[in-house]
Amino acid sequence: MAGYVPEPFRIKVVEPIRRTTAAERRTIIRAAHYNVFKVRSSDILIDLLTDSGTGAMSDNQWAGMMVGDEAYACSRSYYSLESAVRDIFGFRHFVPTHQGRAAEHILCSLLVRPGNLVPNNMHFDTTQANIAARGGIPTNLLIDEGLNPSSHHPFKGNMDLRKLQNWIQQVGPEGIPFGMITVTNNAGGGQPVSMANLRETANVYHEHRIPFFIDACRYAENAYFIQQRELGYAALSPLEIARQMFSYADGCTMSAKKDGLVNIGGLLCMNDPALMQRAEQELILREGFPTYGGLAGRDLEAIARGLYEGLDPEYLAYRVGQTAYLADSLAEVGVPCVQPPGGHAVYVDARALLPHIPAEHLAAWALGVELYVQGGIRSAELGAVAFATRDENGDWQFPPLELVRLALPRRSYTQAHLDYVVETFAAILQKRDDISGYRMTYEPPFLRHFTAEFESLSRTN
Ligand code: F0G
Repeated sequence: MAGYVPEPFRIKVVEPIRRTTAAERRTIIRAAHYNVFKVRSSDILIDLLTDSGTGAMSDNQWAGMMVGDEAYACSRSYYSLESAVRDIFGFRHFVPTHQGRAAEHILCSLLVRPGNLVPNNMHFDTTQANIAARGGIPTNLLIDEGLNPSSHHPFKGNMDLRKLQNWIQQVGPEGIPFGMITVTNNAGGGQPVSMANLRETANVYHEHRIPFFIDACRYAENAYFIQQRELGYAALSPLEIARQMFSYADGCTMSAKKDGLVNIGGLLCMNDPALMQRAEQELILREGFPTYGGLAGRDLEAIARGLYEGLDPEYLAYRVGQTAYLADSLAEVGVPCVQPPGGHAVYVDARALLPHIPAEHLAAWALGVELYVQGGIRSAELGAVAFATRDENGDWQFPPLELVRLALPRRSYTQAHLDYVVETFAAILQKRDDISGYRMTYEPPFLRHFTAEFESLSRTN
């Protein structure tokens, strides 16, 4: 059982959160059509919906906000960010964007044509949707261990190199405008990718002249896992490991709302100057001038400082330790979780916890609703609602994993909050046989889980 690593900070500002009764929460969730995205945050006690943009900034970042330069072009804050990006990522060119999906959107609009294929270890939903929105076909080529919730492989986010090589030979490299790898693999449990696998993936892409982009949202957590688990990296700092990770790639997209430790922001980095010129045109059209990219100067300053704080070894030991503490505590009361725990979140195996609910009745969604009703806790579904597709006959193709993600906002909740989450799960386990499934009553075409509506299949709800 992982001991709790004391927070390497003390709390200077607090934000009240509110308890509600189970009866109130039943009424609230019904009115929200059983979709936790539609519940007001003031009606949530512990919000584990996402670790994206929900963390607490440091005093140093807030100080940076005050000295942010709001000049439209070539502001001082842009150069602070440029210096951090050069130092950590090392790519020749970059632009800020308002968040990660804006970077994905620009990249896909420049490179993806209808019928193109884009491989990844496992696409996150926004990447998948941005490729599909351009008529492309996102393809996942994760190692098999990454899809097995009980496998203890240390790098379950690795690309299956043999699958990748065979697949490229089969489909032909001409239809592959770029290839990706996501660190850590959010859609598959927040699992890391090893340095060896990053290097080999780059070799395979480059052998076929396919540009290689890293989805870098949680690169610092990935670097920490490499330091802890991969032979030969124990003596290197997370910063040195991160530099090496990016040295194999031709560019990256990044949501700074994760390991950039800010509430808004993103990056698009690349080495190709001609492609960057086209990216800048797209950026000016949709986001803003290339030195601010849809952000305020103060946001750029906060990202520049946050990127370094996110790589601090003390912070990372606490961060990854907190996630391990929650996963171990849940496992101890009998909650089936993806093992080993990932960096930013604990992923509960809803199929194993609610085996009586068939795939079409959305077990992970049902567990998410129950967590809210039982404890006022908000989680995210990463299962059929987020990822199932329909085949040409209109029949559902269900994803291999049916997970509920408990994402930990950075530097926001304490050990007592996590213990409360564990107690709530223990209460749910007591009555799990009475939990029934859900049916979608409104199904939007893209990123379904954000706005879909549901009805309960229970006779008593
Ligand atoms: N890639 C990954 C791996 C992500 O986890 C996310 C966002 C994005 C890209 C898009 O970034 O939100 O700034 O546009 N993940 C959030 C989450 C939403 O809850 O996991 P964004």
